[in-house]
Amino acid sequence: MTRILITSALPYINGIKHLGTLAGSMLPADVFARFQRSLGRETLYLCATDEHGTPTELAAAEAGQKPAEFCAEQHEIQHRLGRAFGLSWDHFGRSSSPQNAKLTQRFAQTLWEQGFMEERVTQQVYSNADKRFLPDRYVIGTCPHCGYTAARGDQCENCTRVLDPADLIHPRSAVSGSEDIEIRDSKHLFLRQSLFSDRLRAWIDGKKGDWPLLVTSIALKWLDEGLQDRGITRDLEWGVPVNAADWGPNPDGATPDVEGLAGKVFYVWFDAPIEYIAATWEWADAQAAAAGKGPAVDADWERWWRNPQASDVTYVEFMGKDNVPFHTVGFPCTLIGVNERFDGANWSPANNAPWKLVDRLKGFNWLDYYGGKFSTSQKRGVFMDHALELLPADYWRWWVTANTPETSDATFTWEQFQAQVNADLADVLGNFVNRILKFTETRFEGVVPDGGEDGPLEIKLRADIDAKLAELEENLEGIELRKSAQSLRQLWVLGNQYLTEAAPWTAIKTDRDRAAVAVRTGLNLVALFAKVSEPFIPFACEKIADGVGEAFPGRWPAKGEALNALPPGRTVKAPDVLFRKVEDAQVAEWVERFGGAEA
Ligand code: 2FM
Ligand code: ZN
Repeated sequence: MTRILITSALPYINGIKHLGTLAGSMLPADVFARFQRSLGRETLYLCATDEHGTPTELAAAEAGQKPAEFCAEQHEIQHRLGRAFGLSWDHFGRSSSPQNAKLTQRFAQTLWEQGFMEERVTQQVYSNADKRFLPDRYVIGTCPHCGYTAARGDQCENCTRVLDPADLIHPRSAVSGSEDIEIRDSKHLFLRQSLFSDRLRAWIDGKKGDWPLLVTSIALKWLDEGLQDRGITRDLEWGVPVNAADWGPNPDGATPDVEGLAGKVFYVWFDAPIEYIAATWEWADAQAAAAGKGPAVDADWERWWRNPQASDVTYVEFMGKDNVPFHTVGFPCTLIGVNERFDGANWSPANNAPWKLVDRLKGFNWLDYYGGKFSTSQKRGVFMDHALELLPADYWRWWVTANTPETSDATFTWEQFQAQVNADLADVLGNFVNRILKFTETRFEGVVPDGGEDGPLEIKLRADIDAKLAELEENLEGIELRKSAQSLRQLWVLGNQYLTEAAPWTAIKTDRDRAAVAVRTGLNLVALFAKVSEPFIPFACEKIADGVGEAFPGRWPAKGEALNALPPGRTVKAPDVLFRKVEDAQVAEWVERFGGAEA
């Protein structure tokens, strides 16, 4: 039996996420996780807040808080919103956890001792007024190429030229505006990624045809451009401290410059992906605590990550396309560097419990808002908190899944959102469930009827349902979100068509057995929809399952058993209105509030 490990890209701690973030990692991961669980596979779906780095320090300062306090508050908000959206994380961790600090330090130490790290003296901008080093993009000044006066130290937004802070004319701090800045030497650790090029290329070549083209082409483009060694430490306070004093010599016998590295932290993109593993450790600790035991033992969480114990695990990652380089190059370098040794020509195992690399990587394009970007700063678009104020989570889950930006970017408009949720959820699914259950209540005392035999309509329906179900299953297994939503919608349509043709309301006048067959079949369709729609719209499915007395969440139906769940004699009842239609007046109000085509 396969175990399934799922991670979705870790949302930055800073700010409430918009629908685009949901579409490009968390929601598809959730749909997949729910599907896997319904198949009965042992599944672990993890996510966490990505908390370190300069933006966090600055956002905390702006809020008048210490980073730790700021992050604790923001984490709670994101956790609550994620749950309200039905994201079924087994654990929602924090990259600032002690577990992540330990693992990050341990991996860094191994990378040093295996010769994959190097010390370099770099020039960094220091702001005397702010009493801190400034990352390049927090230095602004006049572009030497085009004269744009607000060019950032890493790149000019106006002429797009790549810059170095030292290129800027009249450089100043973006934090305080102060011009009292200077260049200081600073020791940093570099991961020697250039050594990994061939090793990575071989690995990624092996994924061609398996991973989306979007993903392998981004990864190979990076390799083709030549892998650069990467600075993995920063002059900041809020991060995982560099623990160089604990490290042994590297293969050349050199020990790190403990003094030169004092007070530095690891770069946020070094520790964030390690949090995928650390979140598993946090999860195991939380499980152990809930069972009244002490902290977890390593084997509890390492069984998901370290071979050979993890050889039955399929590890699946979900992310937006901007994250692909870090997951196909950056993080794999860390893991390969911990797992293997390199003698300049050959790679060989460094231990007998190597950490797992990703098996399936699903990358997404962008979901945008009326053809433009969602913007936190300009308050443009729909964010998770507002979305839930307007409508229940399932409306959003359905629309986003049905429009997942898989092969190209997708765009949200209120008009298309209204049309689609009204048609699919209210007119097709909601109407079907309501029709059959109301009729059962009025004409069959709210009980699944006995009697009658399947006729040609039912025989055809069973075959159609089985075929569509197999298609849905294949699309979900293949992580094709749009296609999955399409197959599911077609299943609902089959139900509606059947009911219209079988017309128990007409049959009941002349042939009660015929009506009984149609009603029983219709109710079984309801039970089926509750099961197989659960990955997409879990909240409504819980109500639907309850209406027909089925367990929630249910198991994916076994082959040929799709319409045999309900025993005659069981009491059923119509749920309250499942989906209210989105009205034109609401759309007009929301366009006004959040921006529409003109924005
Ligand atoms: O792009 C982002 O939102 C990052 N916070 C994703 C991090 S994914 C992982 F590596 F931690
Ligand atoms: Zn310029």
